[in-house]
Amino acid sequence: MPSGPAKPLLRALAGETQLRPPWWLMRQAGRYLPEYRAVRAKARDFVELCLTPTLAAELTLQPVRRYHMDGAILFSDILMLPHALGQKLTFREGEGPVLEPIEDSSGIAQLDPGQVVPRLGPVFETIDRVAAALGPQTTLIGFAGAPWTVATYMVEGGSSKDFRRVKTWAYSDVAGFDELIGLLSESTIGFLAAQIDAGAEIVQLFDSWAGILPEPAFERWVIEPTRVIVAALKRRFPNHPIVGFPRGASVLYERYITETRVDGIGLDPMVPAGHARERLQPLATVQGNLDPVLLITGGSSLETAVRELCQALGGGPFVFNLGHGVLPETPPENVEALARLLAEPMAAQ
Ligand code: CP3
Repeated sequence: MPSGPAKPLLRALAGETQLRPPWWLMRQAGRYLPEYRAVRAKARDFVELCLTPTLAAELTLQPVRRYHMDGAILFSDILMLPHALGQKLTFREGEGPVLEPIEDSSGIAQLDPGQVVPRLGPVFETIDRVAAALGPQTTLIGFAGAPWTVATYMVEGGSSKDFRRVKTWAYSDVAGFDELIGLLSESTIGFLAAQIDAGAEIVQLFDSWAGILPEPAFERWVIEPTRVIVAALKRRFPNHPIVGFPRGASVLYERYITETRVDGIGLDPMVPAGHARERLQPLATVQGNLDPVLLITGGSSLETAVRELCQALGGGPFVFNLGHGVLPETPPENVEALARLLAEPMAAQ
């Protein structure tokens, strides 16, 4: 009999139901950990931190050392791609990312996709270092932002409340905006392929702002580029699972899965567990979707929610995660409590 993958996370993504769900947390490395803040203080800025393999590898490993998650997610950022394309990027304390905005097709001409893989060399070196340090049970997760979400930052020049600039461009100059999305799709394929070559065993596409688009725009700029990226990676790496996280996709989650053909689907906290079980789990391994605020709250509210979630989704292929990233205010001991809960066999829950 051919034997499948041995690691719990890979088995879940191959469609296996397990006694205890494998788990990891989006943003499992970060400011809530004192050891992260200590390393962060050593680097001049956040971009430098992401591009220094010794430090980035250490940050990738920190949460795994503490909590023994089943997945170690590469320490990097979705904005390393625009940085490598040549767009100026800085992170200001308390303000988030700042980019020199690209406003139209002339801005696209300034980007250099040929530089992406060479400029991101340190990221691949980080993956190599982490792969060598991980135990045999832990799966190394690479990632990129999906083209739409990366484009929002590139066009808005940072985070945004109403996404006015990027939507204005997309709606008024469809062909020009398609060109930007196409360039990002191709660059993302090259970036993720190089991550897999370096040792990433799973890749996740973060489409954090998928949920702000009306259906036709969602089809064009969320589903279609994701479908293209998945198809290209599957041609080269048929056995490497791909997880999509179209945050806020709501009723469009179902079409996203069937049309992009991702193996795993990251669910945000607003997706009802019953809906996930009945409509989504038959189509893909579901991943999620605890509200990250419950990790701040802790105590019995955390425990009840974790048990309910595992009960609802544990009967099929399931990866326990949050519905969005760990918040900086999270007490590390609540993650410890979560790790203990998840170590119990599902039968006892
Ligand atoms: O999950 C992990 O532990 C791996 C590392 C990781 C980071 N960012 C590190 C980070 C991952 C997977 C990301 C993804 C990311 N980055 C997303 C998609 C997921 C999501 O949150 O929706 C987005 C939209 C970004 C862009 C980004 N990076 C923003 C808007 C900010 C500022 C807001 C904030 O939380 O600080 C960042 C900075 C960032 N990325 C930090 C970390 C640990 C904080 C930097 C610091 O130390 O100040």
